[in-house]
Amino acid sequence: MAYLLIAFVSFVFQFLVPKAYSYGHAHGCRSYCGNLTIDYPFALQPGCGHQGYRDLLYCINNVLMFHISSGSYRVLDIDYAYRSLTLDEPHMSTCTSIMLGKRGNGFVVERWREPYLTPMTDNVFMLLHCKAESPLFQGFSGKHLPCRNVAGMGCDDYYSCPAWSLIGPQRAGSVYGSGPPECCAIAYEAIKDVNLTRLGCQGYSSAYNLAPLRLTGPDEWSYGIRVKYSVQGNETFCKACEATGGSCGYDVNDFSSLCMCGSWNSTSNCDSVPSTSHRRTWSFMDALTGFSICIVNWELAIKLGL
Ligand SMILES: *[C@@H]1O[C@H](CO)[C@@H](O)[C@H](O)[C@H]1NC(C)=O
Ligand SMILES: *[C@@H]1O[C@H](CO)[C@@H](O)[C@H](O)[C@H]1NC(C)=O
Ligand SMILES: *[C@@H]1O[C@H](CO)[C@@H](O)[C@H](O)[C@H]1NC(C)=O
Ligand SMILES: *[C@@H]1O[C@H](CO)[C@@H](O)[C@H](O)[C@H]1NC(C)=O
Repeated sequence: MAYLLIAFVSFVFQFLVPKAYSYGHAHGCRSYCGNLTIDYPFALQPGCGHQGYRDLLYCINNVLMFHISSGSYRVLDIDYAYRSLTLDEPHMSTCTSIMLGKRGNGFVVERWREPYLTPMTDNVFMLLHCKAESPLFQGFSGKHLPCRNVAGMGCDDYYSCPAWSLIGPQRAGSVYGSGPPECCAIAYEAIKDVNLTRLGCQGYSSAYNLAPLRLTGPDEWSYGIRVKYSVQGNETFCKACEATGGSCGYDVNDFSSLCMCGSWNSTSNCDSVPSTSHRRTWSFMDALTGFSICIVNWELAIKLGL
C-alpha cells in the first residue's frame, strides 16, 4: 500500500506543483539585438514584456529600431538602471551637420503610449528655421520667446558649431528683430510633441550632456534623444512573477498582465496552482515524465521492501 502512496504523492507533485524552476528564464522573454540586451519591460516578441512597450522595438540586421508615430529611430543604448533609452536618427542635426527640409522625425508618441515614454527633462530640443507663424512663437512678443537653455545647453552655444558656418552667413542668434531666431532651444515638457510639421520648423537637433557637472561646449554634447521610460501599473506583479521563475508578459488580446511559466500562463505567478483550464495545455511529455517518476518510485518502494 505504501508504494502506491509514494507513487500518488510523486504524481501529485509532478502535476500540481508548477514547473517554474525547471523552465524559468530558459523559456523567457529576454533577447538580444546586436550587443543590446532586450529585457522587461521591453521585448521583441508579442506577448512578452509590458504592454505599454508593445510594437515598439524591432531588431533589423542586428540594429535595434524604435518605432513611434513620428518615425523610426536607432536605439544606441538601453539603461535599465536609470530607465532610459538613447535614440538617434539620421536626419537630426548635430554639431557637424545641419539638416533642413523637414526630413527629421522630431519626437511624437502615440497618445496611449505617452505615460510610458517621455524625453528626459535634461534633454534639449533645438528647433531650426521655424517660421514666424509657428505656434512656438504665438502669444509671445519681442524678446520674450519660449526659447531657453535646457540643462545648460542652448542655441547660443549651438551656433558656434562648425555646421552653422556651412549653411549660410545670416545668424539671427537670439536677437528677435526682423524675424524669429534660426534656432530655438526648448524642453519637451514645454511643447509636448516635437512635430516639425505642426511647429512649422525645417529641422531640429536634440542633445544631452553626459558630463552635467562640467562646463562643456556643443562639440562635446551628445546628440540624440534621451527618453525616460516609466512602467505604469503594478510592479509587484512582475517582481513576483520573476521571483518564481516566470517571464513577465501580457495577453495579446486584452493586454492584461500575464506571468509566463513555460508550459502555462498565470495571472499571478508561477507558484500558484494552475487552474483546470491550464491543465489542458499539459503536453504528452509532461505526462510521460510523471508516469516515469511513478514507475521509478514504485520500483524504489519494492526495493526498499515497502
Ligand atoms: C555596441 O556596439 C556599438 C557598435 O556597434 C558600440 O558603439 C557600442 O559602444 C557597443 N555598446 C556596448 C554597451 O558594448
Ligand atoms: C502565454 O501567453 C503568451 C502571450 O499572450 C502566448 O503567446 C502563449 O501562447 C501563451 N502560452 C500558453 C501555454 O497559453
Ligand atoms: C504632425 O502635425 C501634422 C499637422 O498638424 C499632422 O497632420 C501629423 O499627423 C502630425 N504628425 C504626427 C506624427 O503626429
Ligand atoms: C499588485 O499585485 C499583487 C499581486 O499580483 C497584489 O497582491 C497587490 O495587491 C497589487 N497591488 C496593487 C497596488 O494593486
